[in-house]
Amino acid sequence: MSHYLDRIGAGFILARPDTLDFDYVPEELVGRDDIQHELASKFNKISSPDGTGRAIITGPVGSGKTVLAKTFCRDIKRHMSGKRDIQIAQVNCRNASTSMRVAQRILHSLDPGHPDRGLSMGELLLSLRKLIRRASVHLIIVLDEVDHMLRRSGDELLYQLLRIDEDQEGTGTLSLILISQEQVLEFLETAVMSKFGKTNHIRVPSYTKEGLEAIVRQRAEAALVPGTWDDGILRLLAEKAAPSGDARQVIEFLSSAVERCEFRQDEHTERKLTVDDVNALNHVMATDVGVRLELIDTLSPPTMLVLLSMCRRLKTQDSMTMGDVEALYAVVCEEYEQKTRSHTTLWKYIKSLEQEGIIESHVAAVSGGRGRTTHLSMPHFLPADLASRLELLLPKLLRR
Ligand SMILES: Nc1ncnc2c1ncn2[C@@H]1O[C@H](COP(=O)(O)OP(=O)(O)O)[C@@H](O)[C@H]1O
Ligand SMILES: [Mg+2]
Repeated sequence: MSHYLDRIGAGFILARPDTLDFDYVPEELVGRDDIQHELASKFNKISSPDGTGRAIITGPVGSGKTVLAKTFCRDIKRHMSGKRDIQIAQVNCRNASTSMRVAQRILHSLDPGHPDRGLSMGELLLSLRKLIRRASVHLIIVLDEVDHMLRRSGDELLYQLLRIDEDQEGTGTLSLILISQEQVLEFLETAVMSKFGKTNHIRVPSYTKEGLEAIVRQRAEAALVPGTWDDGILRLLAEKAAPSGDARQVIEFLSSAVERCEFRQDEHTERKLTVDDVNALNHVMATDVGVRLELIDTLSPPTMLVLLSMCRRLKTQDSMTMGDVEALYAVVCEEYEQKTRSHTTLWKYIKSLEQEGIIESHVAAVSGGRGRTTHLSMPHFLPADLASRLELLLPKLLRR
């Protein structure tokens, strides 16, 4: 393998650039045990010589459908080695959207030099059947983004693949996995559906904040120089990506933050991802921030004071505790010559800011101490922007 090239493009922070690629397949999936078991259960029979498996995987973008199928195929091939020779044909139907192109790709994955020009669909399938049987392999065909093919060419190819063993000469020739973002089932004719089996449908949900945090942690561990990141930064990245639930997005955010961090390195900088590196993303991401900033204008002045005290800390720190808020809030009240409110009232303001989606909270361990406490963060706004807006508004409002 070309591992000696792994450090090409590597920097102070980034040790393994390849692991931040979209098509990098991690050794292990994180947080998908249930779904992996479900998929494996559809392939229960594959260990017997004539056993096959079938599955339809659907779910939103970035829910890990492609990587689920890839890791499954890789693992089952390893698991069965010595018992059954398994070959994989993974075709993305976005790039090969007619059933003819798909059939050609499947054939080429077994025999890259196989002539296909001028062959009819029937002939392609005949060649495929012969090839598989001659090599006595079992073929798992994965049709990713299969809705593209179904829309262009219907489900005839699926029908033919499903009945490939009906000539009585062979059994257990191939298994089939379909993947799609949409509900593909409605594109499938009853004949195909009944062969596939409705129970073989696996629905993959989008990721929660915790799921995204686990994924971004796995990537940071694989890609970055140890000591250049900490948990708070990963949490903030996961919070930013949480509204989409898209794993690709959280990896993309990590990769942009790393890029920025690399870019600003010189002999004096600390080699570490900062809140600034993460917040710099907002400029790229947020198109509607202008609109959403106005959300701030409608807050009551006492709430604004609390928010301002938070913004000042969150400019440079990924999160803060209630104790931090109280200390900074006292300073802000003094600055604006306002009476400080009680702990309970402060807490109410904070809860209302959370309800508006301006801040987020999560309970985690006290850094460097024992016990757990609430950490407050601001993943969807730039604290510096909010602070300047509040500093403009507050004097006017308080003078009245
Ligand atoms: N459970 C997971 N563990 C590790 N990486 C994941 C997981 N789910 C998704 N990813 C990664 O997130 C990215 C998007 O996943 P992908 O399988 O392409 O999503 P989909 O096909 O559903 O759009 C890929 O880089 C993938 O490796
Ligand atoms: Mg995909």
